[in-house]
Amino acid sequence: MAQTQEQTVSTGDTPFVPIEKIVSLCKRRGFVYPNSEIYGGVSGIYDFGPLGVELRNNIRRFWWWSMVQTNDNVVGIEGAIITHPRVWEASGHVENFVDRLVDCKNCKRRFRYDHLPEENVRQNTCPVCGGELTEPRTFNLMMETYIGVVEGERMKTYLRGEASQNIYLDYDNVLKSSRMAIPYGICQIGKAFRNEVTPGNFLFRQREFEQWDLQFFVHPSQMQQWFDYWRERRFEWYKGIINHKDRLRFRAHGPDELAHYAKQAFDIEYQTVIGWQEWEGIHWRQDWDLSRHSQYSGQDLSYTDPETKERYIPWIVETSGGVDRTFLNLLLDAYEEEPPSGKDKEGRTVLRLNPMLAPVKVAVLPLQKNKEELVTTAKELHSKLRRLMVSQYDDVANIGRRYRRQDEIGTPFCVTIDFTTLEDQTVTIRERDSMSQIRLHMNEVPAYLLERVRWDYSV
Ligand code: GAP
Repeated sequence: MAQTQEQTVSTGDTPFVPIEKIVSLCKRRGFVYPNSEIYGGVSGIYDFGPLGVELRNNIRRFWWWSMVQTNDNVVGIEGAIITHPRVWEASGHVENFVDRLVDCKNCKRRFRYDHLPEENVRQNTCPVCGGELTEPRTFNLMMETYIGVVEGERMKTYLRGEASQNIYLDYDNVLKSSRMAIPYGICQIGKAFRNEVTPGNFLFRQREFEQWDLQFFVHPSQMQQWFDYWRERRFEWYKGIINHKDRLRFRAHGPDELAHYAKQAFDIEYQTVIGWQEWEGIHWRQDWDLSRHSQYSGQDLSYTDPETKERYIPWIVETSGGVDRTFLNLLLDAYEEEPPSGKDKEGRTVLRLNPMLAPVKVAVLPLQKNKEELVTTAKELHSKLRRLMVSQYDDVANIGRRYRRQDEIGTPFCVTIDFTTLEDQTVTIRERDSMSQIRLHMNEVPAYLLERVRWDYSV
């Protein structure tokens, strides 16, 4: 299906959020900025602002915690973006990592051939204006770069087109240095680069983006079992961080869309205003990667079972998702505009982010700015809290407006210091989603908040 922002599908009770609303919020509140904006920007490349980097760090940390820290049979690495160029010949990317493109002869729009609706492929017509399409042309997505400074001695290589290659390159080193035994996995979070010919839909399809990978190495006889295991676990992981659980599904790849290395693949898809789209891929990579790297490097990457002494090339289950798509999907999932109701005359925009992922965990607000004791007490509490979690102090504008500012960025708790605080050391804690308030002694606030924002995922 061609990816245009006009396609608005909606199921269930809540309408889908237009991407433009998220783009605007992200710019206004410091989540995401267009890269090199003062020079007119670069299509498909973005920078992350003060709130964006907090949200991103939380997303990454949570993935790392649940994939590496809480699994005895998984370890992590961080590989370089630039590798030896032979890596990309062995991986098949130089030959096979291509997109086929067509242009409309009438409106000049460009489309990925594999994203065209079937009807337009059959009729060779543009899905927007109905004009005639050109013959498909093939483009390689790898971004080239050069190592060395002297002309003639420089070596052409590539910015990595998928982060997972480092894991295959380090697989043997990890095995030898960390006393792991098969079945075991290696995780990594890192940037990848693709000369996407049709970047778009904000962070969804970029040219520089970040991936998280698990490559899980198994004996061939155990492939199906581990493939099913990780497929289910990854699905539950995504389900655990979203509100609209009915917008998540699996989709099996048809034979014509399998990547060059994949024998079987499932996408975990999330439904937004642009339709059902891939969030993470679960790939049955079999022995493709280690066999190819053995063949191209001349190094034997086979494994000898320490007990049975059987020698074999391990097969690989890959789970490969995107930090940026997670960032975007979480915002689309969490964003809500609430109309005015009851005492609330203005209505509000609220980001119902899971508290453990929210960029700011708490805002500390003195009821009035011109009462010195309120301000001093609030600042003292804020300086205690900021050592434990991201806390913001805010005394600008009336309290209702300050709550709304925090709702819009997804802050799960606001602590207000009022005149009662000065008498009995209690404060109000307002909860973002229900807007309900409780009173607690100030000394209890840090433990209360820590408990409410900690990782609470148990899969
Ligand atoms: N190693 C396997 C691999 O790279 P992929 O399906 O091409 O598989 C994995 O990418 C994940 O990376 C996707 O599910 C998506 O979340 C993310 N991703 C891929 N291309 C992207 C792009 N151009 N912009 C943002 N995220 C992207």
